[in-house]
Order: sequence, then structure tokens, then C-alpha cells
Amino acid sequence: MIPRLSVLLGLLLACAVQAASIPGQQAVATAHPLATAAAHRILDEGGNAFDAAIAAAATLGVVEPYGSGLGGGGFFLLRQGGNEGARYRFIDARETAPLKAGRDLYRDAAEEVQRDPAINGPLAAGIPGLPAALVHLADEYGQLTLKQSLAPAIQAAEQGFAVSSRYRALGSFRLEAMRRDAETSRLFLRDNDIPAEGTLIKQPELAQTLRLLADQGRDGFYRGQVAERLLTGVQEAGGVWQQADLDAYKIIEREPIRFASHGYEVISAPLPSAGGIALAGIMQGLESLPPSKTGSVQWTHHLVEMMRRTYHDRAALLGDSDFIEVPVARLVSASYARKLAASIDPDHATPSTALGQTRPFNEGTNTTHFSLIDRNGNAVAATLSINLPFGAAFTVPGTGVVLNNEMDDFAADPAGENAYSLAGSEANAISPGKRPLSSMTPTMLENDQHLAVLGTPGGSRIITMVLLGALEAVDGQPVERWVSRPRFHHQYLPDRIQAEDATFSGEQTAALRAMGHKVELAGRDYGDMQALSWDKKKGEISAASDPRGVGEALVTAPQKAD
Ligand code: GLY
Repeated sequence: MIPRLSVLLGLLLACAVQAASIPGQQAVATAHPLATAAAHRILDEGGNAFDAAIAAAATLGVVEPYGSGLGGGGFFLLRQGGNEGARYRFIDARETAPLKAGRDLYRDAAEEVQRDPAINGPLAAGIPGLPAALVHLADEYGQLTLKQSLAPAIQAAEQGFAVSSRYRALGSFRLEAMRRDAETSRLFLRDNDIPAEGTLIKQPELAQTLRLLADQGRDGFYRGQVAERLLTGVQEAGGVWQQADLDAYKIIEREPIRFASHGYEVISAPLPSAGGIALAGIMQGLESLPPSKTGSVQWTHHLVEMMRRTYHDRAALLGDSDFIEVPVARLVSASYARKLAASIDPDHATPSTALGQTRPFNEGTNTTHFSLIDRNGNAVAATLSINLPFGAAFTVPGTGVVLNNEMDDFAADPAGENAYSLAGSEANAISPGKRPLSSMTPTMLENDQHLAVLGTPGGSRIITMVLLGALEAVDGQPVERWVSRPRFHHQYLPDRIQAEDATFSGEQTAALRAMGHKVELAGRDYGDMQALSWDKKKGEISAASDPRGVGEALVTAPQKAD
């Protein structure tokens, strides 16, 4: 009897362990309700998280023409769930510099780097990566056909979506550039102005491009009719794309950055994103400093000083590791983080001039992020971009494809700065086929008890927003707090803390200033975090969408059994 009982107990235990190793529920958090609905529809039709990711990414590209799309790229962090333990993969669908792009792309006759062509029009556009990523996800990870997973996006492009307050705000930011391009103005403005809230935006040309991608896979975008239109449209407007660029584009599967911190394994974006490396430095550095209360002046000082140091490294050392040598293993090591932390003066701000020269700061809000998980524990954190709102503000006629202006993430002038005033270096100089350095940081944190999945748009501030969200997660805070907490940021240059208005009390601001920090209030307009949390012990999933945006997070029970 006793052995039998122990076998039974063993079986029960095994079942319990198995039950805890998959969530049994599914959750999607995206920046737009139509994209959240699209992903849930695909999950309910029997798709897995990777099929749902295709639906979410393609639909976001339709309903957030200011944030991402087929004319852009991005990063997908994948968790393949299962009882044998999770496996992580990272799909790098970052745009590449055209083969005719070199160091002088934006220099005029007087050798001066021109800002306008680096931001507006087709010369600002890298070769898109998102279409190739969607095909790859369907081929290698999905359960449904690409046609099934793209159906909701095609429907959204045909039936239209309503202009939101976010659309209006981001459009206003780029209005002047959008007015310059007839196709962009025709599709996304009304009477050459920002459409009223609720205006229906239909994109029949984009629906047709998505249909060709669905039917023909990679060739539906990078060859044939769409490719011909892309090349004609780009070249006629002064761009340098050739068929060879489209043929050469490849997504790259990379090993994510992984490190242990705060009782979790952190899994995040590798180069060409600076995100994982910077997170490793800041989170591990924080652990080596004397403990301080979350939100206190001392804690803020520690975080700001670690941000300053890791963003300095970003500017000095980071770029596309397929083109330059980067000491990644050293930069993500705990010993290196400890060394950075040891250089912090506990009572005084370190002037950034001690590390390099000062430059001014411009703001920007861009990009999109979604987080989702299926009933089997497959999860995706994806941050996708066309860079500035409405990308290059150039839509290729006959395709509905809004081009990115991701070329501005290169250091076009290694002695200058980009639209986010990020200092750059030779490591991130333009080179044919190279990927520009990014801040996009799709991230997961996992231990036996918990999985956290998060990310956000926000240009150079993405990394520090993900950091603050991750620290809330490891602190056991609810997912709503990760996405809504007030945010602050330091990026080495310019030398100032940018803080949302509600971040610090008057006393805290005074104390930080007394330590030598410059504190600048930045309203409450940046970031649009989408996150989910799986409490493995309780068997509960929760998800949240940033209240700053118009997105939606939804947790449901699966409708179809496996
Ligand atoms: N274009 C924004 C980023 O890659 O960080």
C-alpha cells in the first residue's frame, strides 16, 4: 500500500507541477484595442502566442500608422513554454542601411550633415524588417497559416479605424512633414490637417499589400509588384533603395541578453539594441549599492548615476555587433556593474562632463509594444517601430506602406546627435547593410514563481522605463503599477534628470538638486507600456496597458482546447 500511495502522491505532485508550468489562461496587452482583439481572435481560432503576435504586430501597423508597420522593423522576444522549461529566442527584424548608404549620406557639398533628409522622406528609411519577421514567425513558430494570422489586419485596413487622441497628438508633432508628402496627406490627414477624433481611416492599398504578403510570403513584399512600387516610389522621391537591398534583407535570430538580478533571470534585447546591456548594468549595479527605499532620494540618486554610466557606455561603445567589436560579455557581467556602481559618489551627482561633452535634448514619442501569452506559456514581448511618429512621413504610392526614418538612429555625424539628442560614436556610424543602434527593449523576467513580460515605446527613454517597470515587478507590485508609475530618466547627455511631473515631491526635488542633479519636469506624456504578469504559484495571469495611451489589456480563458 505504502509504495502505491507514494506513487499516487508522486503522480498528483507531478500533475500539480505540470499545472503550474502552463498558465491555462491567455493574455494580450497592446497599444490599441483593435490589435488586442486581433490577437485574441487568433488565439481563439487555435493559434499560439506566435500566431497571435503576427496578428497583433500587423494590426498595430494598420491602426497605429504613427508607431510601426510593414515599412519598419523591430524586435520580438519569444518564450517557448512547455513542461521541459522555457526556451527563449530573439528575432532581430531591425531595418538595415541601404547598400548605397554610407557615411556621407546626409552631408551636403560643404560636408555638413543635413538633419532634414535624415528624418523626412525616403532617404531617411532603412530596409524594412517587419514583413520578413512576420513570415519567419509563421514558418518557424506558428500553428496557423500566415493568411489566417494576417486576416484581422487586412480587415482593419479595409474597414478602417477611428482616429484617437493619441493619433492627433502624434500627428500634430509631425504635421509639417506629413503635409509635404501627397500620399501621406491623402491617407492620414483631412484637408491637409489632423483629422478630428473619430474620423475613419481606411487603407485599401495597405490591405492589398498585406494580402500579397499573406499569399506569397516574403516574395509578396520583397519581390514582385510591391517591391517594384517601393523602389519606384523611393527612387522618384530621392531615395537610394535597389532590388539588391530588398533581396539582401534578412531577419536574424539572436541569443537574448540574460543575467540574474533581484532573484530573477532577466531576459532582454541584445545588440543592435542597447536595452539588455544597459538593464544588466543598472539592475546589477543597483544590487551592489547600499540598500535604499524604493522611491527615496538615495534610491533615485543610485538609479540616475547608474543610468548616466550605462548611457555613457551606450554612446561610446555600442553599435551593430555584426560590424564592430563590442565587449558584450564584460558589459553584462555583474563585476562590471559593480565597478560602475563603485564609482558613484553617495552624496553628489557625477557631472556628465567628467565622462564626455554636453549636448542638448529633444523629446520624441514613437514606436509600439505588445506583450502576450497563450495558455501553454508561449509568450511574446515585441517592440516595433518606424522611429519618429509617422516615420519618415512618406507613404509609398500604391502600397500603403509608411516608411520608417530609422536611419536617424545611426550616428550620421559621429560627432553629433540624433532626434533624441543621443550622443553617438564611430561604433554606430552608417555603413551599407548595417543595423542602427536601438533602445527598444522587449523584456521578460522569470523565476520559479513568476513571469513578467513588458516593454514600451519612447525613444531613448525606453530603457529607463522598462527598468522602472522591471523594478516594480521584482518588488512584487501589481502589473497596473508597472505601467502607470511616474517615470524619470537620465541618458548621460544632456546632463539632467527628466521626470514626469508626479515623480518627486518638492522636498525630493530640492534634495536631488542639492546633490548637484538638474531636474527637469516633463509633463506626463511619454511611454505606452504594455505588460503582463503570470503568478505561477497562484496560477493567475494579469495584464495592463499604460493609462497614458489608448491601449487595452485583456485576460481570457481559451475557447478552443488543444
Ligand atoms: N527607433 C527607436 C529605437 O530603435 O530605439
